[in-house]
Amino acid sequence: MSNAEHEPTGAIECTVNGEAVSTHVPLRQSLVDFLRHGLGLTGTHVGCEHGVCGACNVVVDQRVVRGCLMLAVQVDGSNITTIDAEKSDEYITILQQQFFERAALQCGFCTPGMILQASELLRHTPAPTRAEIRETLSGNYCRCTGYHAIVDAVEASAKVISHLSSDIGRRGGS
Ligand code: FES
Ligand code: FES
Repeated sequence: MSNAEHEPTGAIECTVNGEAVSTHVPLRQSLVDFLRHGLGLTGTHVGCEHGVCGACNVVVDQRVVRGCLMLAVQVDGSNITTIDAEKSDEYITILQQQFFERAALQCGFCTPGMILQASELLRHTPAPTRAEIRETLSGNYCRCTGYHAIVDAVEASAKVISHLSSDIGRRGGS
């Protein structure tokens, strides 16, 4: 019998990308390992595993967190969004499209974390300056792109979202 079989577990109930989840998780399991190995949501990446690179970013109760630094048992009762929510989260969908159109990725390893971090910025700051975008993404490491195209993509996403919002306003939507 392996040590894992003796490991104490805790019950959690949460919502992940709009789906209710009710399960038991090992008490020492990180949130990112739970998402990737427990739920098969492998869009969230694991890089440094100690809170530095931002590859593991996910949104928990509307705040971006490092999935490698949070325990899975801590999300009991929480609402979680990952990059795998691309079809149900308009901000993530638009950012993905703009990253693609602006060639803001090469290997793509950093991209999920970048997009989740940028989505939080755009929800709270609809028209960020380039300096604000750079400041927001300063905790996300990219080894490939040199960052300029990433800033371009976030800036372009803000414009797309702004146009969509004014279209909805003109049509009298909420
Ligand atoms: S893997 Fe979590 S910050 Fe690097
Ligand atoms: S695209 Fe390769 S690490 Fe950012």
